[in-house]
Amino acid sequence: MRRVNKDQKVRISLTLNGRKMSAETEPRMLLSDFLRHSLGATGTHVGCEHGVCGCCTVQIDGTAVRSCLTLAMQAEDRAVTTVESLAGPGGTLNKLQQAFRNHHALQCGFCTPGILMSFTDFLARNPKPTEEELRDVLGGHICRCTGYAGIMAALKEAAGLTNTNEPTGAKS
Ligand code: FES
Ligand code: FES
Repeated sequence: MRRVNKDQKVRISLTLNGRKMSAETEPRMLLSDFLRHSLGATGTHVGCEHGVCGCCTVQIDGTAVRSCLTLAMQAEDRAVTTVESLAGPGGTLNKLQQAFRNHHALQCGFCTPGILMSFTDFLARNPKPTEEELRDVLGGHICRCTGYAGIMAALKEAAGLTNTNEPTGAKS
């Protein structure tokens, strides 16, 4: 990483969802704020700002990270992926997004981008997880609306543990 004076502006270049982007900012700028305020990628949400709620989760080089605990400079020259990357052409939902839709797994949606980005990484590495493993990863996310039943049902469907049409059970 570059050595810079704390009062100096730095230009940070990275690849965001497949596009090269760069912007000038302060050395201490968090990746979450850099994405939202400098690059306009507002799909990444910011809640607790200290690594607890999980809603700011993005991927750097394919690994899920809390962007509120990551300096923007740490993402320099790396590939950052956010929730905006998930849908296909014309906004077609991917399998995980569709499962969330099928099971009404969100209400306000504030927590959703982080959960989607965590599980995009997790399911890529663990294509056949157990329900317990899904619960374990979901434990790193706080949702204040759903009661988690719909989210678990969606995750189980996306992981192939249930069928699309299986009832969700309790929702909110
Ligand atoms: S805003 Fe990053 S974990 Fe809560
Ligand atoms: S859907 Fe509102 S916080 Fe999770």
